[in-house]
Amino acid sequence: MPSAEIYGGTGSVWDFGPLGVLLKNNIKNYWIETFMQKRKEVVLIESALLTKREVLVASGHESEFTDPLVECKKCNGRFREDHLEDKTTCPNCQSKNSFGEAKKFNMMFKTYLGPVEASENLAYLRPETAQGMFTNFKNIIETSRKKLPFGIAQVGKAFRNEITTGNYIFRDREFEQMEIEYFVKPGEDDKWFDFWRNEWEKFLISCGLSTEKLHRYDHPKEALSHYSKGTTDFEYDYPFGRSEVAGVANRTDFDLSAHEKHSGQDMKYFEESTKEKFWPYVIEPTLGVERLMLALLVEGFEKTNDVETNGRSSLPDDKKREPGEIVLHLNPKIAPIKAAILPLVKKDKLPEIAQEIYNDLSAHWQVDYDESGSIGRRYRRQDEIGTPFCITVDFQSIEDQTVTLRDRDTMKQERIKISELQNLIQDKIS
Ligand code: GAP
Repeated sequence: MPSAEIYGGTGSVWDFGPLGVLLKNNIKNYWIETFMQKRKEVVLIESALLTKREVLVASGHESEFTDPLVECKKCNGRFREDHLEDKTTCPNCQSKNSFGEAKKFNMMFKTYLGPVEASENLAYLRPETAQGMFTNFKNIIETSRKKLPFGIAQVGKAFRNEITTGNYIFRDREFEQMEIEYFVKPGEDDKWFDFWRNEWEKFLISCGLSTEKLHRYDHPKEALSHYSKGTTDFEYDYPFGRSEVAGVANRTDFDLSAHEKHSGQDMKYFEESTKEKFWPYVIEPTLGVERLMLALLVEGFEKTNDVETNGRSSLPDDKKREPGEIVLHLNPKIAPIKAAILPLVKKDKLPEIAQEIYNDLSAHWQVDYDESGSIGRRYRRQDEIGTPFCITVDFQSIEDQTVTLRDRDTMKQERIKISELQNLIQDKIS
């Protein structure tokens, strides 16, 4: 929801409610599990959001992290020149040829450290997580004794004072990135660039994006960022058009050499086997949490219409969805709530058994307990938020300690022993 909505919202700044936070955390945790926990050469760090000015002078952000801004002389509307479809017409007041010269607009948010607003106290909110991984590079090699190739990973907030905003959470002023700086021997960078492009693509697909809607876009040489030798974006077919969800760049030794020059500190790597000292090259896979989240919501969303009440997944002959029903086909790994426990009615021992199941399963995952409304209504509520499994406790449960397990996508129900629920759900979501 828009941040400070009661005051009309804060332009392109978002708050996330109970389900949004779970969804975001599941994306981030799955990313950490895939790229840090399961890779022994990658470590995770958390660097500060407030960034000393010198860091961003050295990285080139203070001089280069700009967008071309044009202002309409009639209505004073300001626009990003490269986002204008018609470069001669103001999209706000429709005036023709009313734009002045494009100016470079730096996208970083400024602030001051301490009470004095003087240039020596100037700092920025970081525009990318990357720089903290470069400034801590030596420290991390020395303490974690890593050898090339190795990676430093980080998940966290970044801030950009975007000129063009909109498309819901696609382009935000405050957002989260998941980035790896992967340090390799110069000369081996092309090989690792390919490796990480493949890994990134596999990850996006494993989260639930379809291969048909995901595309690679190689930046032409003249459009590369100031630090990049090669960049490939992963673009997704959002409802508003094909746009970047993630990217992989070959940052060469740009950042480490720049930080050595500006800080006076040795930022080189010493290779024991050859006794050589050099700046490693860096391959940087990067991914925006909100952009992936939006793509997964778009990909998973289904609203059945009058014709296709059969649903997207093939349903058994005896199952139909009503027109207008909403189902969010999220990958169970990512879904905010893994299972909902639903006593069929609020009597006899049904709520008690359901509560016991809730207690057991909530030790492992986020699960929900719902006893209000008809069972059909409760299933639909869970379908809408993407809960992959509904567990219904009925009168047979009292007799034989079994429940039904309903699958969100196929609507199939199977009878399961309560004692087997945990393993079964674990198998289905891993
Ligand atoms: N460290 C490299 C870097 O920051 P980038 O392409 O500018 O590269 C990386 O940003 C990712 O961050 C993008 O692929 C996108 O997913 C996400 N991102 C960038 N700007 C964003 C914004 N204004 N709102 C939401 N996500 C954004």
